[in-house]
Amino acid sequence: MNVTIRGRPRPYRTVGFDRKCNGVRLIEQRLLPHEFRTVLTPDHTATAAAIRDMIVRGAGAIGATAAYGLAQGVREFRGASLVRFDRHVERVFRTLKEARPTAVDPVNAMVQVRAAMAAGANVPERQALALEAAERFADEDVAHCRAIGEHGAPLIRAGMRVLTHCNAGWLAFVDIGSATAPLYAAQAAGRNFHVFCDETRPRCQGASLTAWELAQQGISHEVIADNAAGHLMQRGEIDLVIVGSDRILGRTGDAANKIGTYTKAVLAKHHGIPFYVAIPLSTIDWDLTRGSDIPIEERSAEEVLGAWGVTARGRREHVRIANPTSGARNPGFDVTPAPLITGIITPAGIFRPGGLWRSRARLGGPIR
Ligand code: MRU
Repeated sequence: MNVTIRGRPRPYRTVGFDRKCNGVRLIEQRLLPHEFRTVLTPDHTATAAAIRDMIVRGAGAIGATAAYGLAQGVREFRGASLVRFDRHVERVFRTLKEARPTAVDPVNAMVQVRAAMAAGANVPERQALALEAAERFADEDVAHCRAIGEHGAPLIRAGMRVLTHCNAGWLAFVDIGSATAPLYAAQAAGRNFHVFCDETRPRCQGASLTAWELAQQGISHEVIADNAAGHLMQRGEIDLVIVGSDRILGRTGDAANKIGTYTKAVLAKHHGIPFYVAIPLSTIDWDLTRGSDIPIEERSAEEVLGAWGVTARGRREHVRIANPTSGARNPGFDVTPAPLITGIITPAGIFRPGGLWRSRARLGGPIR
C-alpha cells in the first residue's frame, strides 16, 4: 500500500528480500505510527528474532518472513553434502517455527518452500528454488488478499459502521490485508462507511497500526477502547464485524485471533450483528481437530502492566500503568468457536465455518 512520508506517497510491502546481501527487509512495526523505518535482518537467526520481538507481526506477514527466512538460512549454507544440507535446513526451519507459536502461516509457508526445494538435484539448485518459492508465497499472499477484497466488498454497504479488532491490515500481511481488503475494495467502488478500530490492549495494534493504515488510505475511522464495543452494539452503532485470524481449523471453523476477539464475537451474536473472519489460505490448519488444541502464546506480563507511547517531544517511552507490586497474565490470542462466526471470507469465496472441510479441494486442503 502507499505510505505518505513527507508529503510523498510511495508503495511498500511489509516484507521483502535483498538478494545481494541475503537479508530480509521489514517495516519496523514497533515504531509505528510515530516513525516509519525499514530494517534488514542479516541472517536467519536475526529474522527469527524479528518475528519473536514483533518487528514484524501478523499471520501473513510472519508467514512471508518465515518463508524468506528459510530461504535466507538455506543460502547461508556452504558445502556440497546434501545430508549436511538437509540437517541445516531442519535447524533453520525449527528456529523460525519456534519464534511464535499461534499463527500457522509460518509453518504452512515453510512447508511450501521445503517442498519446492526437493526438486533440486544439488545444493545450489535447492538454494535457488527456496528463494523462488519464498517469493511465490509472498506474491500469493498479496493475490489472496486482493481476492478476499473482491469477495468481501459486497458485505460493506454505504453508510455502514464496521468494527475490526487488532490489525489484520496490510501490515499483518505482505500487502492489502485480510480484514481490511473488503474495506479498501468498497472504498475503491465509491462507498462511504466508517470503521471502529478496537484499541487492542496490551500492544494496541488497533490504535497504532490499523488506525494508521486507515488514515493513510483516507478511510473514515475512530479508535475505541476495547471495552466500548458492547455499548456501541447495544445502541445500534455497529452493523458488521470483520476480523482476521492467526489460525482457522479447516475441520471445524474455529478461529484463533488476537485476544479479545472471542468477546466481540459473543457480543455480536447477542446483538444479531454479522461476524466475519477474513483469511488467506495459508491461515488454514487442516490437521488439528479441536480449537482448544491451538497453541496460545503467553507473552510478557510487562505488556499488560505498562504501555509504550511517544512523549510530546517525540521520544518513545515505556510507562508503568499497573500497581507496582502486581503481576499480570497475558495470553496473546483466544479462540472463537465456529457457531459464533457468520462467514469466513477467503480468496475462493465466503464459506460457513462448518463448510471449509467440505470445500477443502478448493481451499488447498488435503485430498482425503
Ligand atoms: O500478535 P500479533 O500482532 O502478531 O497478532 C496478529 C494479529 O494482528 C491479529 O491476531 C490479526 O487479527 C490476525 S493476523 C492477520
